[in-house]
Formats: sequence, C-alpha cells, structure tokens
Amino acid sequence: MTTGSSRSPHTGDNEGAREDTAVMVRRTRRDPRHDILFEPVTIGPKVLRNRFYQVPHCSGLGDVKPFSQAEHRAVKAEGGWAAVSTEYAPVSPESDESPWISARLWDAEDAANLGLMAEQAHEFDSLAAIELHHSGAHCYGGESRTWPLAPSQLASDLNVHIVPKAMERSDIERVKTEWVRAARAARDVGFDIVYVYGGHSYLPMQFLSPYYNHRDDAYGGSFANRARFWLELLEEVRAAVGDDCAIACRVAVAALGPAGVELDEALVVQHGASSGIEDSRVLHHPDRGHNSVHRATLPYRGGSSLRRVLEHLNSLEVG
Ligand SMILES: Cc1cc2nc3c(=O)[nH]c(=O)nc-3n(C[C@H](O)[C@H](O)[C@H](O)COP(=O)(O)O)c2cc1C
Repeated sequence: MTTGSSRSPHTGDNEGAREDTAVMVRRTRRDPRHDILFEPVTIGPKVLRNRFYQVPHCSGLGDVKPFSQAEHRAVKAEGGWAAVSTEYAPVSPESDESPWISARLWDAEDAANLGLMAEQAHEFDSLAAIELHHSGAHCYGGESRTWPLAPSQLASDLNVHIVPKAMERSDIERVKTEWVRAARAARDVGFDIVYVYGGHSYLPMQFLSPYYNHRDDAYGGSFANRARFWLELLEEVRAAVGDDCAIACRVAVAALGPAGVELDEALVVQHGASSGIEDSRVLHHPDRGHNSVHRATLPYRGGSSLRRVLEHLNSLEVG
C-alpha cells in the first residue's frame, strides 16, 4: 500500500517505519558511560544489583500506615531501585517526631509494621534499608511526653524553643542500647541495611559538633572525645548485627551553619568508622545537610568550602 507520506510508521510505509524505529533506538540507547550504574556493587555483606539507591526520604506514611509504606517502597523496588529505604526511624521515645509522621522503631509492633516493607522490597530483589535515627536536641516529645536529650543543655538551632537536657552517662548508654536493640529488631524483620545516621545535625553529629557539644567528660572536648559516641555506636551495632546487615552512615559536612562540622573532621570520622569496623564497608553518603540551608544566614565557620567538598566527592572511588 502506498500513501502520500513516506516517513510515518502509521502510514503503512515499511521503509519509513524502519527508519523511524532506528532513530528511536539510537535516541534511547544507553550511553556506555552509564553502564556502571547498572552493575552490582557490594556494601559490607550485601550486594546491590545496581547503583540506584533510594536514600531515606519521608513518605508521610511512617509506620502509621504500614501497608501504604510497604507498597510505596515496593513501587520503587519494582521500578528497579537496588535498595529502598525508610524515612527517619527514631530508636528512642524521646526522639519523637510528632506532629510529623515518621517511621519509628521503639517496640515489636513498630518492627512488625516496617517488616512489611522489607518483605515487599525483597519480592522485587531489592534490599531494604532503615534509617535508624535519634534527633537529640530537636524533638520535644509531643507524643511520648519525654524530655529531649542532647550532648549539652543548649537550645536546638532548628527549633529554638526546645532546650534539651544534657545527657548523663546513663542516658548515653541507654540510647546506645536502644540503637542496638532497634538494629537487631530491624535485622530480625528482614532489613538488609541499618543506618547509624548522623546527617542533618542529628544526635551523633551533635556529639561531633563543637557547637552542640560542650561536655567536659570522655564524650566532649577533643575531637577524639566528640567522635567517641558515634564510633562506639557503629562498633556496637556492627557487633550486634554481625554480617547479617550492612551498616550505612551519612556524614554531613560543610553544613552552611555554626552547628556543622568541618570537612576534615567529618572525613576523619569517616575513615575512623571504616577502619574501626572489621570486615565491613560503611556506605558513606556525603551530604551537605539539607536541613541546614536555612542556617546560611548565621555566622559560617570558615575552613570548609563547597569547593573542597566537591573535590572530595569527585575523588571518592565507587567500588
Ligand atoms: C520530601 C523529602 C523527604 C526527605 N526525608 C528525609 C528523611 O526522612 N530522612 C533523611 O535523612 N533525609 C530525608 N530527605 C533528604 C534526602 O535523603 C536527600 O538528602 C535529599 O533528597 C537530597 O538528595 P542528595 O542527598 O542525594 O543530594 C528528604 C528529602 C525530601 C525531598
């Protein structure tokens, strides 16, 4: 059959159709430079089937709507993400994010709720990650009615009306114990990756930050002391989950505000974490700290610069 048009595949002109198809194939062919994104990558004891990693983000579902949470992440897993993650999931009742809806891992019911998500991710061969978290100075315990805890009794720079209690040594031990318990519970309901999360000026970062940490005991003062809480936590979580889970850790650097830490210090923590935990590789997600952008108007601690951060990111080897 012949028509007036020689190009459209809809005209029945086979020659034109073949040409159009060839153009489309050429246009959609993957640039070989991107092939690496589709290769597997090993993180500690786990293997991601490609390099597409869904970093923690809120869904508004938390563990309040566990079935929707599971479906939401499953859509991503089905779409090809090698790992999907929860949003922030506090490990302790005083880190209570209400009135915002977050995931959380305080007890067995929370674990069972979030386990649905891990189950569904696995159905599509994706790994499931959980952002275990404690926000320290930033929470006011609207639901749990407990007081906020932080390295020192200094108002949150995110919610300035919140003034936390300075953590006693028993509080430090309890939070570490709760983090470890949450990591084990997450492992037991099927999570492959557990976070010891420190980005966004959450509790581990508050210990590291001279802005938040004015302690004069073994957890404050020198850089080694300020890093102690985070590194101990990493080691204890590793000891608890063994090779059953990978451990992920986000370190925020150059946070554009006084509460951040310098690039150099953040990198030392990164290296300390990697070398301090045998037989594991910590997944580092260097991060500028999105919650910190509003602080850009406050005096900026010199030393780090975005350029240096970018130089560092460019030098990272993706294995
Ligand atoms: C809607 C939304 C919700 C987010 N929720 C979280 C969260 O629950 N926990 C978290 O650590 N980061 C959260 N983030 C930050 C992301 O993890 C991520 O850092 C951000 O999207 C920027 O991407 P990048 O870090 O790859 O540059 C959220 C981001 C967005 C846009």
